[in-house]
Amino acid sequence: MQPKLKSKVRCADQEVGDVTKIIMDPLTREISHLVVSLNGAGERQVAMGLVQTVTDEVVQLRSSAAEVSALPPFKRDEYVTLHEVEIPHIEDHLHVSPGEVLVPFPELEKSVKRRTFFANLTHVIGLFIGLPLAFPVLKYLMKPMYAPFDNGWLKIGNIGKIKADDAGTQFKFKRKVKEAYLPEAEIEKNVWILKATPAVLEKIYQGKDMEFRDGTGKTIWTNKKDVPYIAFSGKCPHLGCGFKWRQHKVLGQVFLCPCHLSIYDASGTVLDGPAPRPLDPLPIQVSASGEVQIIDMEFKAGTKSQTRIV
Ligand code: FES
Repeated sequence: MQPKLKSKVRCADQEVGDVTKIIMDPLTREISHLVVSLNGAGERQVAMGLVQTVTDEVVQLRSSAAEVSALPPFKRDEYVTLHEVEIPHIEDHLHVSPGEVLVPFPELEKSVKRRTFFANLTHVIGLFIGLPLAFPVLKYLMKPMYAPFDNGWLKIGNIGKIKADDAGTQFKFKRKVKEAYLPEAEIEKNVWILKATPAVLEKIYQGKDMEFRDGTGKTIWTNKKDVPYIAFSGKCPHLGCGFKWRQHKVLGQVFLCPCHLSIYDASGTVLDGPAPRPLDPLPIQVSASGEVQIIDMEFKAGTKSQTRIV
């Protein structure tokens, strides 16, 4: 017979209180302990091994009253009720009258206070409910971040501006950009255009046309190796500073980045400094009337390989 809640608890020498809770072992699905309220002197957790007999109304213990009251106080926070955890079929093994039936708090969560555990659980459930509602808003706000690259051609000026071969000429242009949730803004950018001699073209192209691809790998443009006009992104591949075309007292005319003194020759090859790769060529086409168009691209700074970011 299983002990009933509210049964009287008697020791060998005297009655000590009554049963207020039942503790189940979730593995064996048997009652492992009784919680005995000691007539106003707190609650004690009494192992079933100390139970001698059980009748309808009385639980008889083997221990003395002094031994029972010397047991450690019952810690309610270390247990949860059967309503708070789901243990399949555990109630099939219960034949006690309704009341507070407990199982030990799950082992992994012992360091978490019971209320904290359920508060966290509530937050997680809230998150799962809220996420589908928040998702469309986040998607709208973040859309510009995940928009495909803009591969449109931009008119940036006329080659009449270029006065000498193998010399860098800066072309400035304006471009509209939209960053995440910020409003669209117009920014000023620049590229360097060069009318290259065959020797410089050979250094850049190394005998092969240069293909530019979109995010899916599809070719969007090919710079032909024998077209003399070259466009370089205006950002230094080291850390993205703007650079200039300058006279160097030993190297002659070079691209010089003032930030950390990377130096590049007319073909964009690194001659000195920390730059990890040559200048970044861009797609360029020049019309019969000399109008220059480029596709504006930016690449990740500080890396040896080229990774497009704009
Ligand atoms: S950013 Fe150009 S050298 Fe560092």
